[in-house]
Amino acid sequence: MSGLAKHGNFHNYYKFNTPENRLRQLDQLSLFEGRGDNTQRVFNVLDVGCNENCCKEKSGYQYKINTLGVDLDSVLIDRAKEKSKDNPNVSFGRLDMLDEMTNVQQITQDFLSARGSTQFDLVVCFSITMWIHLNHGDQGLLQFLDRVSDLTLNFLIIEPQPWSCYKSAVKRHKKVGAEVHPLFSVINIRNDVEEKIKEHLSSNCGMAVKQELGVTDWGRGVSLYQRNNKL
Ligand SMILES: C[S@@+](CC[C@H](N)C(=O)[O-])C[C@H]1O[C@@H](n2cnc3c(N)ncnc32)[C@H](O)[C@@H]1O
Repeated sequence: MSGLAKHGNFHNYYKFNTPENRLRQLDQLSLFEGRGDNTQRVFNVLDVGCNENCCKEKSGYQYKINTLGVDLDSVLIDRAKEKSKDNPNVSFGRLDMLDEMTNVQQITQDFLSARGSTQFDLVVCFSITMWIHLNHGDQGLLQFLDRVSDLTLNFLIIEPQPWSCYKSAVKRHKKVGAEVHPLFSVINIRNDVEEKIKEHLSSNCGMAVKQELGVTDWGRGVSLYQRNNKL
């Protein structure tokens, strides 16, 4: 991986981790296929940590998909806006997901209320949990999981980085003499981080794994969760 970025806000991310590596896992999703009638339901998606946006518009879904991408890096958000300027179904906003709750609510609720909704149908979190964890510690990671779960009416997709990625990130920092994330040495959730994420989502957030969507070329599992009361 080239370059260092404190929050994983790489400005060349899609040169070394191609969008197809992750999006392939979504091909088997049947969520958007509709019920075989002619009504075109709207499906609102929140992409958390969208970087410069890798999600391509897919055709053939019965649902009309509206996406809001959020990221803490304003350069990446500007690029995402530029890339999608001709697509009315995607919007972007600069947002730190661990910022004051009022800011999180303002950006997400503005998007939703303009579309007559109060929650997203699906929230996706690709390759972001490690960066939240390294910068905000165990409590920050759990708070992040609480927040993304609260924002979804039904579905949540998470691709957590396993512990080996943390060790690689630290090694990259050390190699160039850069400061290692100070919380790295004090976090308690370590080798079993993927299991702990699952456990927290199930015991505290009312979410259960509905489907394992596969493993990316980088060895990261992608899980689809659904609200327990909707299973
Ligand atoms: C490794 S990149 C993954 C990008 C994209 N989700 C993907 O998988 O293709 C992690 C992204 O999360 C963003 N990020 C990290 N911490 C964040 C936070 N607290 N709030 C919002 N975005 C954050 C970074 O800026 C970066 O763009």
